[in-house]
Amino acid sequence: TINARVEALLAKMSLEEKVGQMAQITLDVLGKGPNRFASYDPLVLDTAEMQKALVKYKIGSVLNTANNKALTPQHWWEVVSYIQQVNTKGNALQIPVIFGIDAIHGATYTAGATLFPQQIAQAATRNRALVRKGAEITAYETRASNTPWVFSPVLDLGADPRFPRIWESFGEDPYLGAQMGHEIVKGYEGEKNDVNDPTHVAASIKHFLGYQAPVSGKDRTPANISKQQLYEYHLPAFRAGVEAGAHTIMINSGQINGIPTHANYEILTKLLKEELGFRGLAVTDWADIENLYRRDHIAGSDKEAIMLAINAGIDMSMIPYNYEPFCEGLVALVKEGKVPQSRIDDAVRRVLRVKFELGLFERPLTNYKDYPLFGSKQFEKASYDAAAEAITLLKNEGGVLPLAKGAKILVTGPNANDMRTLDGAWSYSWQGEKVPQFTTQYNSILAALKKKAGAENVTYVPGVSYKADGKWYEEAPDRMADAVAAAKNADVIVLCLGENSYAEKPGDLNDLYIGDDQTALAQQLIATGKPVVLVLTEGRPRIISKFEQGVKGVVLGYLPGNFGGDAIADVLYGDVNPSGKLPYTYPRYPNALIGYIHKPSEEQTKAEGVYNYEADYNPQYRFGTGLSYTTFEYANLKAEVANRVLHVSVEVKNTGSKAGKEAVEVYTSDLLATLISPDVKRLRGFEKINLQAGESKTVVFEIPVEQLAFAGVDGKPVLEPGDFEVHVGKLTVKFSL
Ligand code: IFM
Repeated sequence: TINARVEALLAKMSLEEKVGQMAQITLDVLGKGPNRFASYDPLVLDTAEMQKALVKYKIGSVLNTANNKALTPQHWWEVVSYIQQVNTKGNALQIPVIFGIDAIHGATYTAGATLFPQQIAQAATRNRALVRKGAEITAYETRASNTPWVFSPVLDLGADPRFPRIWESFGEDPYLGAQMGHEIVKGYEGEKNDVNDPTHVAASIKHFLGYQAPVSGKDRTPANISKQQLYEYHLPAFRAGVEAGAHTIMINSGQINGIPTHANYEILTKLLKEELGFRGLAVTDWADIENLYRRDHIAGSDKEAIMLAINAGIDMSMIPYNYEPFCEGLVALVKEGKVPQSRIDDAVRRVLRVKFELGLFERPLTNYKDYPLFGSKQFEKASYDAAAEAITLLKNEGGVLPLAKGAKILVTGPNANDMRTLDGAWSYSWQGEKVPQFTTQYNSILAALKKKAGAENVTYVPGVSYKADGKWYEEAPDRMADAVAAAKNADVIVLCLGENSYAEKPGDLNDLYIGDDQTALAQQLIATGKPVVLVLTEGRPRIISKFEQGVKGVVLGYLPGNFGGDAIADVLYGDVNPSGKLPYTYPRYPNALIGYIHKPSEEQTKAEGVYNYEADYNPQYRFGTGLSYTTFEYANLKAEVANRVLHVSVEVKNTGSKAGKEAVEVYTSDLLATLISPDVKRLRGFEKINLQAGESKTVVFEIPVEQLAFAGVDGKPVLEPGDFEVHVGKLTVKFSL
């Protein structure tokens, strides 16, 4: 068995060999050249560096970032093969190196890989099968790149629109996150988690725990989260990921209640390993052990930081550069009795188990030649399908959409003609910078619209660039006046606004309003009197309330991936009937960032007459909003509890004239709770159905009553008997427990 093999190998290992297995360096460390960490030159491996890291220090893992540059599958083959070769030649125990990569919406560091919509867009599809399929293809293409481990999915609760990584999450709802989290892990690892299959990879659910909830809304800054909130909102998706069998987990780079998570024994050992029973390996985020000393000032030296992190429950350190102090420091700490040998053995067991289960001892390499479907049309179709189901129609005043074929359209705005604004970051490079040789084959929104509408019907003026937002410089010159002039000859204006690509700290923001230049462009175009259809591609909901009332249509594309331009064009012209639903609350004001999960006291009613109504809960668009070109009618909602299961059924009819997909969502409200003020309502089930015009279906949900429990102050689930409501569409029925 694998356990027996792990134990037999462990028994042969020296302390130095064990510690080496707990270390992960970045690929740049093994590269040649004076500027190898930042260079965009082709990656050339340095044999002397490899000898030192792999043979002398016996490093067990390499993080495959290559100078922020995508390599071809063949190049990945050469790089990884050479490293494995040096490693096995120099080490008697022949323990293969495990390579990991940020393949977060496709094999993101491989040139020509199929890039899917980012996770936030996948959540908007409300389609579990699409999420699973995307992960299966990503696993296949990552293995084609000779890499068996992905640092994905993000299972953080994406509930703060200010946070720069909300687009990497499944949005603000714990149930949605848990459901999609299950699918994506199974997609990566296979239904039975047989990661030995060379088309599957080990997943890494991240960033455990509470990463996206800092007080400031900025990356890697402190969060204050009560135990009740941790269990109620932040834990469910991770619990689902662990239960789905994820082989690895990455830790939150920030701190909760004053304790950096990397040094938090309660979270890493008591909660993760003991309570959730996680058997896989826990890897740090980038340099987060040294951060305990250098950034967080919770350790007095690098060595003390290593002690705190390993004793708290870290199994592998993503170092990523200065590995000697880690290896030497940890060996010394064990010899000094400051880190128990048993903790080292536990960590190394976890690392070795993942390597054995991946089959790396038998097959340390996978050859791109065995992956004929890499970048195939069939895979591209899956990416397109996900984008088409993600796109969310938020407003359609007077039926401005779909656009009439033959209408003259002005396409404008900084996101109209750029792949970066469709893919977002982690797209062939960390920040999704332009990598022209790999992106020109895909259609920007403009290119897709020209194809669809005919170039003769499309006028393009960039309007404004990102320069004035203080974020990213784009080559497109600011030509607001030209855009306004061009509007005179157009029947409709397609205004493409939003954000450029960013990830992590570079995406931190001081103002959630969409940029001033973009606002001015919108206002000036609205003033022309021509109908404006706003197309948003953005990583987080940037506030548009200064001009939203003036636009006729709003289409939200999120970050829809390589085929997002095509999918948006298809939605604009009605060839795709939109069916995405918001996976977050779209705020109206920066000082009203209340999500759909909130308490009754956050939702005052006008009847009370004394409050500032503008400050009541009235977001721009509510969680779950998503219009269609057809109409759906809900009837006959029933709810009853039998055998500890809440049975809900509802009839849904397509009453319009077009076929369409509808995500049917079930919410419940707990009308009275005695311990914690209940949330106004919570999502408990969703199913996406397809209805022809005139067709109806009965949709059934079976919800175990335990799912209606809430976390008490100690985090333990409490299920109080009493009255509840079920809401589906605009219908409500009561039931009691
Ligand atoms: O996986 C990522 C993580 O999400 C953010 N910091 C760097 C890691 C490795 O690239």
